[in-house]
Amino acid sequence: MSDIAGPGLLAKARTALTIAGGLYALAIGLVSIPYFQSHTLYLNAVRIPWFADFDAPERYGLAINKTYNFKIQTVDNETLGAWFILSESVYQTLPSHNTIPKPYISDALRTRPTILFFHGNAATRAFKVRIQHYTAFSSRLNANVLAIDYRGFAESTGTPSEEGLVRDARAAYEWLISSGAKGEDIIIMGHSLGTGVSARLAAQLSKEELAYRGVVLMSPFSSMTELVKTYSILGAVPLVRPLTMIPYAFNFITWALIHKFDTLSVVPQIKGKVLIAHAENDWDVPYTHSEVLFNAFLEPLLPNVDIPSDPVSTTKEDWSAFTAQIAARKNQRENIVTTTRLVNFGVVEEFVDRGGESLVNGEPVRGAEYWAAGRPGGGAPWQREVIFVKMLEGNHELVGVQEGLQDIIGRKFGLLQQPLAPLPPPPMSAPASAAPESDVGGSDASEAGGWSPLPSASERGEWTGAMTKVID
Ligand SMILES: *[C@@H]1O[C@H](CO)[C@@H](O)[C@H](O)[C@H]1NC(C)=O
Ligand SMILES: *[C@@H]1O[C@H](CO)[C@@H](O)[C@H](O)[C@H]1NC(C)=O
Repeated sequence: MSDIAGPGLLAKARTALTIAGGLYALAIGLVSIPYFQSHTLYLNAVRIPWFADFDAPERYGLAINKTYNFKIQTVDNETLGAWFILSESVYQTLPSHNTIPKPYISDALRTRPTILFFHGNAATRAFKVRIQHYTAFSSRLNANVLAIDYRGFAESTGTPSEEGLVRDARAAYEWLISSGAKGEDIIIMGHSLGTGVSARLAAQLSKEELAYRGVVLMSPFSSMTELVKTYSILGAVPLVRPLTMIPYAFNFITWALIHKFDTLSVVPQIKGKVLIAHAENDWDVPYTHSEVLFNAFLEPLLPNVDIPSDPVSTTKEDWSAFTAQIAARKNQRENIVTTTRLVNFGVVEEFVDRGGESLVNGEPVRGAEYWAAGRPGGGAPWQREVIFVKMLEGNHELVGVQEGLQDIIGRKFGLLQQPLAPLPPPPMSAPASAAPESDVGGSDASEAGGWSPLPSASERGEWTGAMTKVID
């Protein structure tokens, strides 16, 4: 800095800004170098928990001998660390805790669906919040879980790349099939970065007409380019948005992006059932990414809108045609999409896309032409069902551990074998005037409203019976 300005406050501020700007430019510059970009994106060097013993899943919270630790070989000769976690109903048939789970895997694959789980960036399959997912899915949903560590993560060999991760995912799917699973019993599930992997695996299997039960995308991003644009550090400091003020700088960043994970572009190829879940309080990846994805699935079913090319010469007639098209589109959307509000939890939007057969009020919708012009993926007729769960809570990491979401997944993907019985009508609530005064000691609930917190012995008996039936 020049001395002319003197050591005033302004000059100091300018120095600070120059340094900050310089560091920022350096960081952006570094990230555009493939080596650094890889490390920033995958964070695979962050091996939390450090020095994990993958042979001892019990240490990280899983039941004793419920998990088989093994290796999966990819087509390009990488070796991946993997955990196969038995579904609860199969695990409980083990004669003792001293029984190794491996011989029970084929039983598990035969009797229960399997969640093929692809984790997000950083850390390993033994990371605490991931264990919480396996625990919930294997016990609450009674599913088997296969969790892998991609190449370059945990004890897996190699270095991560987009194509490499997709190959790893395929290898995990193939392992399940060769171990006796039916494709229809495999639910592909990804979280964060893992959604990019899951979507590409689903698109690949769809193209090859290989079966899977469906795909679950938790806290997904629509594409890496969009993510970089919207990403904020801790939800506060926009990462590259300042660059949009400099011409071409942003284009440079998107050009330099080598790992694109462009989920949006593979949407047309994904067959079957798709569930997207996102929390409104996700400060890492805004939930608008999920809205973009959901709308992309919906797009073929909505009528086109011809945007007036030159607003100046647009006639009144053009204009009213345009607004009519917009109204028709909105109307169509309301006809197709079912919206359910779940108080204190979130909103579920869903629709079924029957390809060429889609009719709304007896009229074929645009999807018919879209599919007829060449069904994406080709082959036999297929339909897909798309469900978007927008949750109030869950941040970025905890969407999958919300029981509300687990149950929706359970019902949509046939993991809960029977629909929950309708609840009995609630007990008559006492009139407001008769409500007991609340005091520190509290009043007995059963006196107040006839509600008893514990089921009677006979009720307990019935309940246990019902549970046995569910688990069988
Ligand atoms: C993988 O290893 C096998 C056996 O060692 C070898 O025959 C094959 O060429 C290797 N494939 C690749 C892609 O390196
Ligand atoms: C699992 O079972 C094997 C075989 O009996 C036994 O050696 C091992 O100690 C068990 N694992 C744990 C954590 O107890």
